[in-house]
Amino acid sequence: MTHTTQSWQWYEQNAQIYQEMDPATVEFGRQLLDYADPPPGARLLDVGAGRGAVAGQAAARGCAVTAIDAAPSMVTQLREDFPGITVSRMDAHRFDFADGEFDVVTAGFVLDLLSDPAAALAETRRVLRPGGVVALSVPGLLPHRERWQWLVDLAQEFYPTAIQEDTPPEATVDIPTLLAGTGFTGQNRRDFHLPVPIAGPLALWELFAARLPMAESTGAVVRQPRDRAEEFRRRFLSGARRMHAGGGIAMDRHMIMYRAAKPS
Ligand SMILES: C[S@@+](CC[C@H](N)C(=O)[O-])C[C@H]1O[C@@H](n2cnc3c(N)ncnc32)[C@H](O)[C@@H]1O
Repeated sequence: MTHTTQSWQWYEQNAQIYQEMDPATVEFGRQLLDYADPPPGARLLDVGAGRGAVAGQAAARGCAVTAIDAAPSMVTQLREDFPGITVSRMDAHRFDFADGEFDVVTAGFVLDLLSDPAAALAETRRVLRPGGVVALSVPGLLPHRERWQWLVDLAQEFYPTAIQEDTPPEATVDIPTLLAGTGFTGQNRRDFHLPVPIAGPLALWELFAARLPMAESTGAVVRQPRDRAEEFRRRFLSGARRMHAGGGIAMDRHMIMYRAAKPS
């Protein structure tokens, strides 16, 4: 799995805190599952299952769930939390499953991490039965962008490679084209917005700082020398204080979901 190491490394180190860190995770999982709409008893494969936001809720709805993840500590944690789910360590680019083994495949916030999402979708199509459904999600745009411009500007100054102006996250992976290219039909898209109020400047910093190591480990940003990192933190907090005073801090989180079928 050498070519995909970076996509799961951060998750490997943060399996314990992943779900606690992001209060939206469980709700996003519920939304994706509602969209996939598997009937009880459906054989469901959850790809890049993480802490089980999708897989756990699918099992609770009576699906026969198989969950895979590339990060060993996610796999260990999943097995512990959900003894009723079949969990394997596996790379999303190549499944050790037979053709047509599943009725539904879900993948919450995974395709955007992969080096070759088309290969993952081709594998997804292979393991689905004819007429089977894939439902996946990717991060959407940050709404109210103007309220966050101070942070975009600050990140641009300190971490210029991380911020590419005018490139919405959804553009980094063109799911509709990939789905069509891998032979899925009947595509649909659904957007979901979730306002996440943040208690204050420090809470915002904690959320941001927890994500920084991932960006560093994937090479998306260059680690800053200590004094520069401290200056970044100071200016981050002062920007966050202004935002807090001027109406509060809320991250209106946006998820884009796609659903399609393998032709019968
Ligand atoms: C953003 S998390 C999403 C977790 C879960 N689906 C959710 O919605 O909460 C992405 C997950 O994909 C896993 N992952 C990353 N690259 C992978 C790969 N190449 N194959 C399988 N899993 C991978 C990570 O380890 C992580 O658990």
